[in-house]
Amino acid sequence: MQLLEGIKSDLTSNWIYGTAWKEEKTSELTLTALKHGFRVIDTANQLKHYVESAVGNALLNFFNMCSVKREDIVLQTKFTYANSQDKRLPYDNKANIADQVEQSFFSSLDHLNTNYIDSYLLHSTFNTNDIATEDLEAWQAMENLYKKGYIKRLGISNISNKQLLKIYDYAEIKPAIVQNRCYAHTSWNASVRYTCKKLGIEYQGFSILSANLRLTRNIEFKNIVQKYKLTPAQVIYQVALKMGIKPLTGACNLDHLIENVNCMKTELSNEDIKKIEKLMT
Ligand SMILES: NC(=O)c1ccc[n+]([C@@H]2O[C@H](COP(=O)([O-])OP(=O)(O)OC[C@H]3O[C@@H](n4cnc5c(N)ncnc54)[C@H](OP(=O)(O)O)[C@@H]3O)[C@@H](O)[C@H]2O)c1
Repeated sequence: MQLLEGIKSDLTSNWIYGTAWKEEKTSELTLTALKHGFRVIDTANQLKHYVESAVGNALLNFFNMCSVKREDIVLQTKFTYANSQDKRLPYDNKANIADQVEQSFFSSLDHLNTNYIDSYLLHSTFNTNDIATEDLEAWQAMENLYKKGYIKRLGISNISNKQLLKIYDYAEIKPAIVQNRCYAHTSWNASVRYTCKKLGIEYQGFSILSANLRLTRNIEFKNIVQKYKLTPAQVIYQVALKMGIKPLTGACNLDHLIENVNCMKTELSNEDIKKIEKLMT
């Protein structure tokens, strides 16, 4: 695989580059991540937090400057309900949910200059506690796009274990991906990860650093960081990877990005991994 400014070897293959909160820097930062070997890119059709069209620009620029092609990239984006958007909606809010999904999806294709999406996620459920009829309608609309060959894998984000089991039961095309926030004090979202493992669903984790700042202040954690001469971020990401979590990183600082993907440069013992897994729980 061609690298323009590469991080050595295949260090990025287990990672997803996240494009949230980059505003006018989205294109430049996404291009930098691509040049450094990231091949899985996460975005959303939600201007409140993402500039999906700038991700599309970065991809066009990247394809123009090297031999990497669209099919070498895994492109992931999301349908977001109006209650998690600002006023800049990618669909007509008065349309029914199925039409909103379809309008949002085709606008994503347009933004990303592509005719298919590798993974399409329902950004969150309609209500936090249960699966609503809106979710079933949205999922069915996503299934229809899948059946027409526009999408390779369907997924869902910000979901509890109970909700995941319900949607899994309902779905004709089963969720292949879950993307959740990962807190050490919930045993790193253990119940959802367990379900994912059992059902063969890929588990993607975000906020792995920002949700776990308390962990980095723990004395036992600090001792492990010192022992292996890694950074706190590297220890957290290594533990996440060893737990089978596919991590997202959206670092804007290139040194952070390189530091993160090099988190395995010294491997922690199984004993220390287990110790960290149990801290804060
Ligand atoms: N599905 C959802 O609802 C949802 C929600 C949130 C996020 N996401 C996805 O997940 C992606 C990643 O988001 P995230 O919340 O995990 O946060 P992140 O964007 O990876 O990083 C959060 C913060 O950590 C800092 N950081 C990164 N690496 C560091 C290091 N080695 N040392 C010190 N600080 C470091 C970053 O600083 P710098 O930027 O200065 O490097 C940034 O301030 C997003 O871009 C988005 O694609 C999805």
